[in-house]
Amino acid sequence: MCGIIGYVGPRPAQEVLLNGLERLEYRGYDSVGVALLDGSQIQVAKQMGRIAGLREKLAAAPLAGHSGIGHTRWATHGQPSDQNAHPHTDCSGHIAVVHNGIIENEAALRQELIAGGHHFRSETDTEVIAHLIEEADGESLSDAVRAIRQRLRGSYAIAVLDTRHPDEIVVARNEAPLVIGLGEGERFVASDIPAFLPYTRWVVPLEDGDTASLKRDELVLWNAAGERITRQPYVISWSAEAAERSGYTTFMEKEIHEQPRAWRETMRGRLAIVSPRQWELHLDEEAPKPQEWQRLHQLFLIGCGTAYHAAMVGGRFFEQLARVAPTVDLASEFRYRDPIIGPGDIAIFVSQSGETADTLAAMRLAKAQGATTVAVTNVVGSTLAREADRVFYIQAGPEIAVASTKAYTTQVIALALLALDLGHQNGQLNPERAMALVQALLDLPRLGESLLDQSAQWEPLAAAIANASSAFYLGRGLDWAAALEGALKMKEISYVHAEAYAAGELKHGTLALVEAATPVVALITQPHLVEKSLSNLREVKARGASVLAITSEGLSKAVGEVADAVLVLPDIDPLATPVLAALPLQVLALMAATLRGNDVDKPRNLAKSVTVE
Ligand code: G6P
Repeated sequence: MCGIIGYVGPRPAQEVLLNGLERLEYRGYDSVGVALLDGSQIQVAKQMGRIAGLREKLAAAPLAGHSGIGHTRWATHGQPSDQNAHPHTDCSGHIAVVHNGIIENEAALRQELIAGGHHFRSETDTEVIAHLIEEADGESLSDAVRAIRQRLRGSYAIAVLDTRHPDEIVVARNEAPLVIGLGEGERFVASDIPAFLPYTRWVVPLEDGDTASLKRDELVLWNAAGERITRQPYVISWSAEAAERSGYTTFMEKEIHEQPRAWRETMRGRLAIVSPRQWELHLDEEAPKPQEWQRLHQLFLIGCGTAYHAAMVGGRFFEQLARVAPTVDLASEFRYRDPIIGPGDIAIFVSQSGETADTLAAMRLAKAQGATTVAVTNVVGSTLAREADRVFYIQAGPEIAVASTKAYTTQVIALALLALDLGHQNGQLNPERAMALVQALLDLPRLGESLLDQSAQWEPLAAAIANASSAFYLGRGLDWAAALEGALKMKEISYVHAEAYAAGELKHGTLALVEAATPVVALITQPHLVEKSLSNLREVKARGASVLAITSEGLSKAVGEVADAVLVLPDIDPLATPVLAALPLQVLALMAATLRGNDVDKPRNLAKSVTVE
């Protein structure tokens, strides 16, 4: 998984490429490179490490040229190294290629090319593409690229420069994202829109199988069948600044604090209370239709990572509100377990990016077997959004930090709205229950803001975890799902080993790991489970654990008698607490990671958008 940028136009391309790469660094950051075409010559600058390093090098020795391609890498084939950094060139140096994805038949192609006299300089799968284009006959670069696509198996988004076709970039997409930006006399291409947003808001998304030729004043598109096509551009409403840090030290901090606003956006125009006893839900045109809910046979909720945790919380909503017990699954498990799924079933796929490879594959499988597929996603025009039968956009705005925060809580709210809709359509919704939840959902932004205002006080609690080698997160019911997400946040950015357990399970093995001063974060927000949870707290306390309980105001007295420290959430309908509980869990992780001196936005070994299996 990597980030691609390309530019052709009147501006000096180097700056456009570096700026774009900086906005794509969340996609991978082990090495970086650019290729610029100046007259009849391609010049490449690439190296291991972050973009800042390349920027420094190019400040000292700038590359000239008004067209170019750039790449920020997350290694899949070949170690991160200067040689393996993109762009890759052919033997003649006429062609330069950047690539995101994996070419599955790379080994066979490489062997064939070497036998044909080609000389390879890297271990990457990408380099075969440059040599294949070198071999291809064709009047034009786009002919050559379209011809060699027949030979490639796997996923790829590529951008190609050729000295014999100056002022042109040819791009192709298959199972990896790529969008084109249209400016006045200039064209951009990137893995994601923020990369060129400072220059243009006009966007043309590419579909799998598309090839495109970009020139200053021209965009030519071919589909998978080789037909010339046109695709309607659309205009992006969010600003370039919205994709930047706006005063916060890290994107993660910014995104945590944006949540109350994001929640309002998720519900805006969709959920409202119209009289003391009446609420209304208006889902978008693209959301599941009443007749689809009414015909529902089985329900599936599927995602990866944080999105999977949102699906776990969402599963409880469907059970409580619509009396439907969904199968909640990890996309990487679902797709390989030969699931029993068919017409009448609805499968909801939760994904911030809408590009996660396992989630897409699971969606395609469910669709092929006749299920109605629903994307719950943040990215308009993403592959998941385009390919699923129905879409619910969570409207969280761009999320840049690798650790997902605002996407998680908005996904949870989105699933609550879908569960309300199903409960309404299948007649299982208890009116009082529903009214209480609607009220709570609409109250969330206000309560979230006041909770975040207190967040500076949580630093000593975070310090206790930051100094430990491992921590446990406990909860029952909805609190267990919240605990899983809290532990994931902590481990992914602070690197403190954090495990979540259903509180009742601890004594079946894990209790053996609890010893003096082990930090335990206990979530206790569900009134009907307080007694049981307190018993579990006593079990860990008896082994010397230091317990921080996250609880709601009404429960805090009882909980405070057992826990060592208490972090109090405002009282709200218990079904809505996972959204509020996420805030301190995210902030504790952020503070612990900061105290440990980690790169919060770009944790080691991880990437934001996992477009490989
Ligand atoms: C990566 C990210 C996680 C994210 C997961 C699923 O692992 O680091 O934060 O939850 O992918 O991503 P998606 O875009 O499908 O929600």
